Amino acid sequence: MTIKNKKILLIIGGGIAAYKSLDLIRLLKKKNNEVRTILTKSGKEFVTPLSITTLTNYKTFEDIFDKNSEAEIDHISLSRWADIIIVLPTTANFMTKLSIGKAEDLATTVILASNKDILLIPAMNVRMWIHKATQKNVKTLQDYGYLFLGPEKGEMACGEYGEGKMSSPRQILYYLENYFNKKDFIKKKKIKALVTAGPTREYLDPVRYLSNESSGKQGYEIAAALSRMGVNTTLISGPSNLISKKEIKIKKVITASEMFEEVKKSLPVEIAVCAAAVSDFKPLKKNKNKLNKDSLKINSIKLQKNTDIVEYLGKNNKYRPKLVVSFAAETENLNKNAISKLIKKNCDFIIANDVSKTDSGFNSDYNRVSIIDGSGKIKIIKKNKKSFIANKIAEIILEKLLVDEKSIN
Ligand code: PMT
Repeated sequence: MTIKNKKILLIIGGGIAAYKSLDLIRLLKKKNNEVRTILTKSGKEFVTPLSITTLTNYKTFEDIFDKNSEAEIDHISLSRWADIIIVLPTTANFMTKLSIGKAEDLATTVILASNKDILLIPAMNVRMWIHKATQKNVKTLQDYGYLFLGPEKGEMACGEYGEGKMSSPRQILYYLENYFNKKDFIKKKKIKALVTAGPTREYLDPVRYLSNESSGKQGYEIAAALSRMGVNTTLISGPSNLISKKEIKIKKVITASEMFEEVKKSLPVEIAVCAAAVSDFKPLKKNKNKLNKDSLKINSIKLQKNTDIVEYLGKNNKYRPKLVVSFAAETENLNKNAISKLIKKNCDFIIANDVSKTDSGFNSDYNRVSIIDGSGKIKIIKKNKKSFIANKIAEIILEKLLVDEKSIN
């Protein structure tokens, strides 16, 4: 595994760890990567443009109002040029600016105008890192899709010990190798995914239906996370007010039968993630006209089972996706019930979703899940934003796809 011929835009921030950027540039250049840099005003207090330029063989960008630089390459082109943008070290102050969308200098403007992944590598005093304001910014930025590496635990330049130390250039290189390995694999193999999201409605008559509280948020976030990683993603959504990213192919459905039909039409895919809250039952008959209260007798509604879409995918001999990922919404015996569903439906992963609390789960921005793989290994994610959970799920399943592929070849 190695990283070569990539275009890396390095934003060097104002912290003592800025000196490590020189070592990172050296490592990246050694492997034939192109590196361009933006040195922030406070970064310049720690490293000089001359030392950076000596290593990159390229001009160091500093000022957004520098006419010569803008003529050569403007701030929009600079962000389009890069395969990834890295901010190193990312200070607490810089995170605050990003979390409120400030564009006050070249670095923040390039980031705000960027359509690329942005990797933040924080470094700061432990108290600053664990401060509620910083942690709130971290959550906001994760929610916006920023990637994070570190900080690590260790002794810091200020002499204190704890979480706040910047990841080493070698750790950063290892992260980048993994990152590009996954991206290149997805691109080369043209990986496709289908994601189901939202509720279904099972009509009794033209105005009454069986449904649930699902908003579609979790499924939409998963589709967005996969798409961000370069996966060609189709989102099959039950009724929801959410709007998906334009790169995602969206198919809107209402009933479980319609969802099933769209899922079948979307095959073959390498990955299927089923986050929809599909109704298990539907009325045996949908009345053409609105049922009259007097004609409706108590206990007279007869139900029939809907096809289980995940089970269909998991046991499909012809078009089984390489990875079938199910959800299990549970209010008790979370992992035990989820594992039985994983086995019964022949899935590769099941996301055990604790829906017993009112501050997460259905129709909330937050969720609590355990990601369980086929061998029974459990990764617990405590209450967190659905976007964060979606990124974790996407990361884990893409990693698995890559490992499986390697073991075949
Ligand atoms: O949409 P949000 O408001 O963001 O909420 C997210 C969520 C709580 C709906 C989501 O995270 C979640 O847990 N989805 C699964 C809900 C569910 O129906 O769970 P289940 O345990 O009943 O079903 C197990 C699995 O079978 C699910 O992947 C479901 O999509 C699938 N299924 C169920 C019935 C059916 N007929 N076909 C299916 O494919």
